Amino acid sequence: MDFKIEIAKLLDSKIESLNQEEIFGLIEYPKNTEMGDFAFPCFRLAKEYRKAPPMIAGELVEAIGQVEMLESVEAVGGYLNFKINKEVFARTVLEGVLDMGDDYGKQTVGENKKVIVEFSSTNIAKPFHIGHIRSTMIGNSLNRIYKMLGYDTVAINHLGDYGTQFGKLIVAYKLWGSREAIEKNPIPELLKIYVKFHEEAEEKPELEDEARAWFTKLENDDKEAYELWSWFREVSLKEFNRVYSLLGVEFDSYDGESFYSDKMGAVLEDMRNKNVMEVSEGAEIVNLEEYDMTPALITKKDGSSLYITRDLAAAIYRKNNYEFFKNIYVVGSQQKLHFSQLFKILELMGYAWSEDCTHVDFGMVSLAEGTMSTRKGRVVFLEEVLLKAIEEIKKVIDEKNPNLEGKEDVARQVGVGAVVFQELFNNRIKDYTFSWEKALSFEGETGPYVQYTHARACSVLRKADLDYKNEIDFSKLDDKASMDLLRELAKFPKIIQDAGNKNEPSIITRYVVGIAQLFNRFYHDNPILTDDKELTKARLSLVYASKVTIKNGLYLVSIEAPERM
Ligand code: ARG
Repeated sequence: MDFKIEIAKLLDSKIESLNQEEIFGLIEYPKNTEMGDFAFPCFRLAKEYRKAPPMIAGELVEAIGQVEMLESVEAVGGYLNFKINKEVFARTVLEGVLDMGDDYGKQTVGENKKVIVEFSSTNIAKPFHIGHIRSTMIGNSLNRIYKMLGYDTVAINHLGDYGTQFGKLIVAYKLWGSREAIEKNPIPELLKIYVKFHEEAEEKPELEDEARAWFTKLENDDKEAYELWSWFREVSLKEFNRVYSLLGVEFDSYDGESFYSDKMGAVLEDMRNKNVMEVSEGAEIVNLEEYDMTPALITKKDGSSLYITRDLAAAIYRKNNYEFFKNIYVVGSQQKLHFSQLFKILELMGYAWSEDCTHVDFGMVSLAEGTMSTRKGRVVFLEEVLLKAIEEIKKVIDEKNPNLEGKEDVARQVGVGAVVFQELFNNRIKDYTFSWEKALSFEGETGPYVQYTHARACSVLRKADLDYKNEIDFSKLDDKASMDLLRELAKFPKIIQDAGNKNEPSIITRYVVGIAQLFNRFYHDNPILTDDKELTKARLSLVYASKVTIKNGLYLVSIEAPERM
């Protein structure tokens, strides 16, 4: 039962001039829940009733009279304040959760619709650094959120595995590389020679020409070039996958830039036929002046393609291959212009579905020393951060709970969870400066706090040997702490929708912290194991509902919930 809808229905039967939907839209949640669970402002009715709002409110109270689902209806100022009958409310919420069990939160709004979530999209042979955590975790969470809403999702890692930098890497490898060293320690070694290339090329610009020549070879399927490239790709992916598995991140596809290298020709033809491009100094561009954007360079003078060319091919391929309802790109806000150009060009090509493409952007991570720079070798590896966090948590466990079962695994879940939680706690658009101290702090509103609350709930349920899922006396949950918790638990499905609509995982992260706080308050105020068996059962069922909600909420933001800590 959705109480807001029920109240709208009730009011609709008493008010002529507004329909149910309009009434629904006007209903508010009072900030102070002592006032009521819902409020309806009567100001809009003043004209029609030719009366002051407080009087209208009074008359409506009379008209409504006694209703089973309501504890009270009061007129306060120009408002009608509704208090839901506590027992009815508790029953409705908890039976809803008990009914769905571990699936609480699952919905069907997205049924039969496909959403593509492209995220992480790391660059081969380059470090997987702390900056990448953003796209990776926001994307992985959105993928889970859309799934929970019932969408069919496709998680794509649009690997940066193509482009002139591979020419540079081949030259660098041939000059200074060691196969053995790279096999052992792929990315740091590849990074080392890549950085060296840039240093040397300052003195010897002919290196750049060589690099271009090798990239052309690669484009023309030269055997040596291809083999080196696929080896770089393979060893890099192995390393990325180690980090993905630490983070619990999974993809359905790794079709990256190289995948589109043979699909661009047809797109270029199409663009030429549709007269979207013009030739400018031997290159082909799309003029976007009319839309207040700089021109997009599509082919270079030498005929080679660019990043955006591959993205055009990718978008069209995705539409044909997946018939998506939405195509989401989780990429930093530095690429705002790129995506605006991309979507506009698709529109100019006559693809109405360009409207279904969304750039989900986010702010930058920098270091105290300045922006991260791969070329200068100024980066913090993501894996290092995760491993350090795990190490720190291990110390805490060894100190506080040395006999914990499966403690290695718990340390990983909590250490990684702490880092991920931090990442997803703030609105994604915010820039931030990475600090070791912050990444490794576990006090206050953190992942470990929420995980610990979950483990505490699990422990209570383990100890109780009562059936808390059937024949519950819901009238026992009428104290304020229980009611506040129930009210918040009931919002979970809406919260997930909201997070999906705004592509904002932090909505879930914050919600879950709120639940943990309300749960801890409830737990502090109410002894669970009492002599009153009915009371204990009712409270246990609320503990259970809290546990499921926290667990599922954490899951949506890609954080595991150990049962013991
Ligand atoms: N590899 C790119 C980078 O690291 C991000 C790719 C974003 N996705 C896209 N379809 N362009 O900057």
